[in-house]
Amino acid sequence: MSQEELFMDSVTAGKLTEKRSRSNLGLAVTGLLGGSLVALYAVAAPFVAPALRKVCLPFVPATTAQVENVLGVLRARTGRLVDIGSGDGRIVIAAAKHGFKASGFELNPWLVWYSRYKALREGVQHSTSFHISDLWKVSFAQYSNVVIFGVPQMMDQLEVKLASELPSTAKVVACRFPFPTWVPECTAGEGIDTVWVYDAKTFKTDMQNGMTRKRTPEPEDKPDSHTLM
Ligand SMILES: C[S@@+](CC[C@H](N)C(=O)[O-])C[C@H]1O[C@@H](n2cnc3c(N)ncnc32)[C@H](O)[C@@H]1O
Repeated sequence: MSQEELFMDSVTAGKLTEKRSRSNLGLAVTGLLGGSLVALYAVAAPFVAPALRKVCLPFVPATTAQVENVLGVLRARTGRLVDIGSGDGRIVIAAAKHGFKASGFELNPWLVWYSRYKALREGVQHSTSFHISDLWKVSFAQYSNVVIFGVPQMMDQLEVKLASELPSTAKVVACRFPFPTWVPECTAGEGIDTVWVYDAKTFKTDMQNGMTRKRTPEPEDKPDSHTLM
């Protein structure tokens, strides 16, 4: 082989190696980009999904005052507590710290995993449980304290579900939005932090007698705070 041919061979080989390493780099970049997009989709999808459902119930965490109001109205109560649509677990964890055996049902798996992690970090993992579940597919019959931070569009349907499932000893606390026909026995807090408290014996009897009334609480009905027995 002449020197010229040897030179040409080495140039061709060099070009081939360069081409290969460029295509490897291209593959790596494409893989990295694709992987990042899939990861981003996996994280974001559960947060966006509620907007695509018939009733849009997005993740809006309770304020500190709201959590305090919930615990305030339930402070003389015992038994099992459930937060329906438990978000990042703040109500369940706060309730567990106040002695409740507390559970959360939440559609978004990231929020459930975060809640479990937070419960572990705060030392209440044995008195809390978090479930990845659709609230419409779960029975709440075993709970005597029920908390819901919902949206107005779902409250009438939830009234029917809870009235048929809950024991007469239960109390239901609605955050920010009241139930449309049940009559609250008391409220606590103000503005967006308001919570409404309902007694199951009352709303179950009213429902059975077809006596549900359209009524929103008047300001004079509203004591500053109440403790339930
Ligand atoms: C307004 S946030 C309230 C979060 C929490 N309860 C709090 O007060 O901080 C409502 C939560 O319900 C969840 N959610 C929406 N639709 C749901 C469904 N069908 N079943 C269970 N959880 C649902 C949302 O992901 C969101 O975290």
